Amino acid sequence: MSLRVAILISGGGSNMVALAKSMTGDHPARTVLVLANSANAGGLQKAADMGIETAVVDHRPFGADRAAFEAELTKALFVANADIICLAGFMRVLTADFVNQWQGRMLNIHPSLLPKYKGLNTHARAIAAGDSEAGCSVHLVTATLDGGPVLGQARVPVLPDDTPDSLAARILPLEHQLYPAVLRKFASGDETRVNLSRANPV
Ligand code: GAR
Repeated sequence: MSLRVAILISGGGSNMVALAKSMTGDHPARTVLVLANSANAGGLQKAADMGIETAVVDHRPFGADRAAFEAELTKALFVANADIICLAGFMRVLTADFVNQWQGRMLNIHPSLLPKYKGLNTHARAIAAGDSEAGCSVHLVTATLDGGPVLGQARVPVLPDDTPDSLAARILPLEHQLYPAVLRKFASGDETRVNLSRANPV
């Protein structure tokens, strides 16, 4: 029986599309829900076009009450009977209570080589620091923001004339390779690390 994956998004959902497309054939998991915290998330239509169930839990009516927002998330995840959550550009910070309920079963992709540059503006910070390489990481989510065990990373060189946008554009296609590669192994019970670079693609 396949594992049931819920993918949480806030935006365009390109990582969600890569994940959903990967879960076919002998893959041990299937996408059962794409859930967004805004009805404006562009990924919702992409999911619907792929025939995937979608849901919206708008965070705004809940204001600062994160627990009430998360109670609605939990309801939607319960209805979908999800086994695994993939955060894919989901831009809400989750409480320790929610994270602990899903500990060991929730993954996130973050656009930096963790532990460097947790939080926002990762590419600008890598350029400002003069780093020679940048990339992305898939990690298990723990109560420490962007701090859980790293399951995979992909690396690209930082070029002398890079801007945050050009660096992001170079890294995003690798995110689309890395996240499905990690999820497939993770859903098979294999938490050994995936390392990708342009010289070592999947
Ligand atoms: C991706 O670059 C992802 O790594 C990043 O948001 C983008 C979402 O793009 N995630 C974070 O910054 C999480 N802190 P997508 O909606 O096209 O997948």
